[in-house]
Amino acid sequence: MLTDRINNITYSKAMKIAGNVIELKNKGVDVVDFTAGQPDFPTPDNIKAAAFEAITQNKTRYTKNPGLTELREAVINKFKHDNDLHYAENEVMVSTGAKQCLFNAILSLVSKDDEVIFQSPYYTSYPHMISLAEGKSVEIKTTDKSNFKITKSMLENVITEKSKVFILCNPSNPTGAVYSKSELEELAEVVIENNLYVVTDEIYEKIVYDQNKFVSFASLSSEIKERIVVVNGVSKAYSMTGWRIGYCAANKEIISAMNKIQSHSTSGANSIAQCASVEALNGDQSSVESMRNEYQKRRDFIFEKLNEIDGLSVSKCQGAFYLFINIEKLIDKKEIKSANDFTDYLLNEFNVAAIPGTVFGTDGYMRISFATSMDTLEKGVERIKHAVESLS
Ligand SMILES: Cc1ncc(COP(=O)(O)O)c(C=O)c1O
Repeated sequence: MLTDRINNITYSKAMKIAGNVIELKNKGVDVVDFTAGQPDFPTPDNIKAAAFEAITQNKTRYTKNPGLTELREAVINKFKHDNDLHYAENEVMVSTGAKQCLFNAILSLVSKDDEVIFQSPYYTSYPHMISLAEGKSVEIKTTDKSNFKITKSMLENVITEKSKVFILCNPSNPTGAVYSKSELEELAEVVIENNLYVVTDEIYEKIVYDQNKFVSFASLSSEIKERIVVVNGVSKAYSMTGWRIGYCAANKEIISAMNKIQSHSTSGANSIAQCASVEALNGDQSSVESMRNEYQKRRDFIFEKLNEIDGLSVSKCQGAFYLFINIEKLIDKKEIKSANDFTDYLLNEFNVAAIPGTVFGTDGYMRISFATSMDTLEKGVERIKHAVESLS
C-alpha cells in the first residue's frame, strides 16, 4: 500500500525513546530524562505577551506565504546585526520550524540520485529528508579525537561528479562542536571549487560557550553566500520549540523555489506564533543570555562529574546543550554490545534516559541533554555512576 518513499524512512528513534520515558513517568517511575532536545525554560514573558496581543487584535488569518512582512524585516535585521549578512525581502522566508526550512531547502536543491554530504554524528532528520527527496546521503565519519569536526581534505575525499549539497550543522546537534572562522574558510574553498550548494543549520547559534565565537558560514564572502541556504529559528534561542517558527535566507531563486513548496504544503506558518517571533527577534534579548549562562553552569557541572566516572570519556561541548559521551570502554562488559544496549540498561535498571549514538549514525556514544534542572543533573549523574560501576 505504501510508497517506497515512505518505506525507506523510519519514525524518529529519539521520539520513540522520549515516548517510552513518558509512559514510564505515567506509571509513576522516577525517570531522570536526559533526552530532551529542547530548552526547559518557559518562553520569555515579553514574547508570550506579544502572542496574547496578536490574538486580541485578531491577527488570526493566513499570513503571506513567506511570512509576515514585519517578521521578515526582523529576520533581515537579525542577519545584518548578528552576522553582517545582507539580504533583501525576497531572499528570506519564514516556515513552520527550522525543520520545514531544511525540508524546503533539500526538496528545492536535491534531485534524484544527487549526493548530499554531511558529517556523522548528524542531526537525525537529515538522511530521512534526503531520502524523501530521492537523493543519496554521503556521510563523513568524525569522532571525539578530531573534536567531531571535518577538515578540507575530508570533504574533498568524498566529492564525486554527483555531489550537489553539503549540509553543515554548526553548532552541532548532537556533539556541540562549533567551527571557527578559519575552519569554515577551508571548507568554503572546497564548496566553491566543486560548485556545491550548502545548507547551514545554525539553530544553536545563540548557545555557544567559553571563548568560542559563532561565525555564520555565509558571512565569509559574497561568493560563498550565493551558494548557501542559512537555516535558523526561534526554537532554541528563545525557548519556543512548540511555537514552530523557523526562518532562512538564500539567493532569491532558491527562496522562490522554497516558497512554491510551502505554498502547496502549509501556506505559511502560524500567524500568532509569527507575531510572537517578531517580539523575540526585535525585543529585549537579555533572556537569551541568561539562559545561555545557565546552560554553561550546567555543562560545567555535568562535564566535571561525568569525567570522574571511570569508563566514560567526555568531550567538553563548545555549543548547544548536549554532551556526546564516548562509552566504547563499556562495550563487551556483561551484556553490553552497543550504545543501544547501554542506554537500554541505563533506562531499565537505573531509570536514566539517554539517546544512543546510533540515532545520530554513530555507535559507541550516547547523547545527554543538559537542558534540565541542576537537581535532575545531580540525580542522573549519580545513577550513571552506579550503572557504570555495576558493570565492572
Ligand atoms: C540541529 C537541528 N536542526 C533543526 C532542528 C529543528 O528545529 P525546529 O524546532 O525549529 O524545527 C533541531 C531540533 O532539535 C535541531 O537540533
